[in-house]
Amino acid sequence: MQRLGILTAGGDTPALNATLYGAVERANASGIELYGIVNGFSGLLNPRVPHVHLNPLFSSIPELDPTVGGTLLGASRTYIDPTATQDLTRVAEHVEKLELDGLICVGGDGTINGMQPLSSRFPCVLAPKTIDNDLGLNYIDEPNERSLRDATAARPQPSATAPDLDLEKIINYVTPGYATAVFVASSAIERIRTTAESHRRIAIIEVMGRQSGYIALGSAYGQPDIILIPEIPVNLTAVERRIRELYELQRHVVIVVGEGVVDETGRQLGAVTSSVDPAGNLLFSGAAEALKHLLLQRFEHDYFQQVRPDEDLSSAIFTRKVGHTQRGGRPIRFDRFHAVQIGGKAVELLIDGQNNFLSTLQWSLSRGFHTDALAAHKLRDRKQLMHPRQVHPSLYDATRFQPTSLGINYLNNIFTGAIGSEDVEHIRCALFPPHKIGTRYQSVNIDIQRRMQSL
Ligand code: F6P
Repeated sequence: MQRLGILTAGGDTPALNATLYGAVERANASGIELYGIVNGFSGLLNPRVPHVHLNPLFSSIPELDPTVGGTLLGASRTYIDPTATQDLTRVAEHVEKLELDGLICVGGDGTINGMQPLSSRFPCVLAPKTIDNDLGLNYIDEPNERSLRDATAARPQPSATAPDLDLEKIINYVTPGYATAVFVASSAIERIRTTAESHRRIAIIEVMGRQSGYIALGSAYGQPDIILIPEIPVNLTAVERRIRELYELQRHVVIVVGEGVVDETGRQLGAVTSSVDPAGNLLFSGAAEALKHLLLQRFEHDYFQQVRPDEDLSSAIFTRKVGHTQRGGRPIRFDRFHAVQIGGKAVELLIDGQNNFLSTLQWSLSRGFHTDALAAHKLRDRKQLMHPRQVHPSLYDATRFQPTSLGINYLNNIFTGAIGSEDVEHIRCALFPPHKIGTRYQSVNIDIQRRMQSL
């Protein structure tokens, strides 16, 4: 094995450069050249295949900094359609011309779908990334059980009746990017709380995650009063009751909603029409606003008047989206460290002759976090479909709108020690140095442009 390719596909995360760095370090150790394909699958389809040699003389290029968010290779949501034979042939030709012995795709579920048809032409592996933490399985047999459940159309079980998840059996316990997203979301909640508290308001904070409530669940570290996850349809009456209890008590309420929350008929609270991105992922918008409007209809006109005289009803409830800040910036230590491992493991899989596999991050009490691997087809159900991993019912208490004790254990395994002292020091040193103000931002895109080669 002499040369491998690597690309970053789908939405960016704070840990992509760390994964690239891990792959470079592992490739260096085995004397393998690593070419970075620019702009994800779009770069592979481009006749010129823009690429960057990431480890000339088997050392990493200085532009590749694992502590910087985003990806120096650029990313795109361009998707390889498995039925577009001409595209597949074109990509295979490009890979051959670049003399790549295999390809590492750093990505999520959309990327794995794009990688699958390519794996019949040349060896490919996936290094997982997604802030949504939805790439993986709660347990190995989940896709088969899902097929059965879909056949009987059963609703998710409430936590009281669901058997507890065995945390050691989770496939891909956590994906790089998730920890930083939760760090950002939790910090945002703490900051928004003080406004809600001071002005006696109800704050509804929308976090990312599509159909998966992992970011919302993790945002429990910001101590929101109510967490609503997409997996459990919103019971408005129960939410209203809890809000009234809390408002009586503390004169303000903080609610977190995962962007994909649904009503009791299973319809998305937010976007009226659901559209999809090129990889087939649903796009979500407006859940917090929709919840605000539904709640406003449930409170009597003078409900807030006693506490907030002279202020209008609609300002009593306000919404904020944490938005793309969850996806950006410096990765916290947990993400940096494990993204590096995941990238290195992906190179190892190709060295070991694996194809259509993914590197995974496993957890056990005796070993802590460690890397492993899984054949990609194990993520698919009977119909060969892959589904975003969702929060297991045993991790979320739908009556308290909070993580269960098992959910807390799940999260504490990730987040205890997730922030390093160097992360704190970075904030202290890097935000307000006097020379920074008035100095233009230096984009890595300019530096990498100089290194770019093409066919
Ligand atoms: O999948 C990652 C994610 O950040 C989702 O949580 C979110 O719905 C989506 O991407 C946003 O996509 P875009 O950056 O294309 O707006």
